[in-house]
Amino acid sequence: MSHQNPLQTEASSSSPSSADTGPAYYKHHIFFCLNERKNGEACCALQGAQAAFDHCKSRVKELGLSGPGQVRVNKAGCLDRCAGGPIAVVYPEGTWYSFVDTSDIDEIVESHLKNGQVVERLRTPPHLGR
Ligand code: FES
Repeated sequence: MSHQNPLQTEASSSSPSSADTGPAYYKHHIFFCLNERKNGEACCALQGAQAAFDHCKSRVKELGLSGPGQVRVNKAGCLDRCAGGPIAVVYPEGTWYSFVDTSDIDEIVESHLKNGQVVERLRTPPHLGR
């Protein structure tokens, strides 16, 4: 006679492993920090983050890149790397960008989100945090 708990057996045999997760829902997921600080401290909102986010969203749509299996553009709060702001981060790679204007956003969209090539010149320096 077995003393094995059938519930434990069931649970352990159905636990997901990393191999069970399937393909990523989005190929690239980009988050823009849109945080605004009212106390006058530096924040991405004071450096054109909303305009960059809007521009990115419309470019991705215009190029037919948005949707499942492709690209998703999302707002985020403070990503805690304010010193490099304005900031965006692309997953699954975890590539951090510090951009200046809409032409930088165009380059991120064309190179990274469309063609999978990181834009080295726009990468946030690794030491920059809050
Ligand atoms: S305010 Fe944008 S990263 Fe902190």
